[in-house]
Amino acid sequence: MASSPVKNTYPHRHILGIEGLFPQEIAYVLEKSEEYVAQNRRADKKINLLYGCTIINLFFEDSTRTRTSFELAAKRLSADVINMSINNSSINKGETLIDTAATLNAMHPDILVVRAGLSGAVQLLADKVNCSVINAGDGGHEHPTQAFLDALTIQRRKGKLQGLKIAICGDILHSRVARSNIYLLITMGAQVRLVAPKTLIPAGAENLGVKVFHTMEQGLEDCDIVMMLRLQTERMEGNFFPSIREYFHFFGLDYKKLSVAKADALIMHPGPANRGVEIDSEVADDFSRSVIREQVEMGVAVRMACLDILSNNLKTEREMHPNEA
Ligand code: ASP
Ligand code: CP
Repeated sequence: MASSPVKNTYPHRHILGIEGLFPQEIAYVLEKSEEYVAQNRRADKKINLLYGCTIINLFFEDSTRTRTSFELAAKRLSADVINMSINNSSINKGETLIDTAATLNAMHPDILVVRAGLSGAVQLLADKVNCSVINAGDGGHEHPTQAFLDALTIQRRKGKLQGLKIAICGDILHSRVARSNIYLLITMGAQVRLVAPKTLIPAGAENLGVKVFHTMEQGLEDCDIVMMLRLQTERMEGNFFPSIREYFHFFGLDYKKLSVAKADALIMHPGPANRGVEIDSEVADDFSRSVIREQVEMGVAVRMACLDILSNNLKTEREMHPNEA
């Protein structure tokens, strides 16, 4: 069993979003994740921490990284993990998301990991079940574990989050990654810039404590981190830019645009990346600057930490209220 040297300062049943979390809660998740980075690099990666614990992955939207890393995280902690395939589920017979969750809840899982197409759907579902719920992305709202893994990647490379200049570039309007990252990075004292055409910046973005830029040349100037985002066409209704060619010309990251950032600025992308749309292929593959693969590695550690923290909280809660399970 891994025993944490740091005191648990994440006293919640769920991980639904970053908004409203305190700096010490975020710091605790990052410290805990750090322990799992070390574990994942050992030959013997598996521990018995979650033996007997049942985790269900319920993904209503496509995923490669998040779903796989939650499954791997659960298995490395010795939990029993079920991956619900929505394509073969009774959702296709008209069962609702809430009824599906209630059905699964009746089987007494300990943690549900949910990705949903609608903003707020994961919160709604969490209100109906008595297990813990982790939001693996809900519409354009939040993707909290992505923000944790991005922060862990930055903190390990730069030694801190506070004071760093971080440019988040691209389709901010439809991005849950951008939203969760903005909340986390601002809470931890970073200076966040949003760089995008006017059509892809949400109304009132400045109220989140960020600076908004409409050219890469201005937005990337002197930045420590350049985080690129995919155009979320699956959530777009209407035209937000004239053409992919023009979008890449003005907002696609290439070496010329990158040249105004700090010489040691890191390139990040949550994935999946669309090469030649928001990022030049050569830049994405420049592993002297690009930490895209490291982000994926950190994703497993962060998800192990999240499962560890929530299962521990649930255990304490059940010990205190044995008749409410
Ligand atoms: N994979 C991330 C998400 O699900 C980012 C993306 O799809 O572009 O939000
Ligand atoms: N970054 C991310 O969430 O990737 P997937 O959509 O592949 O899970």
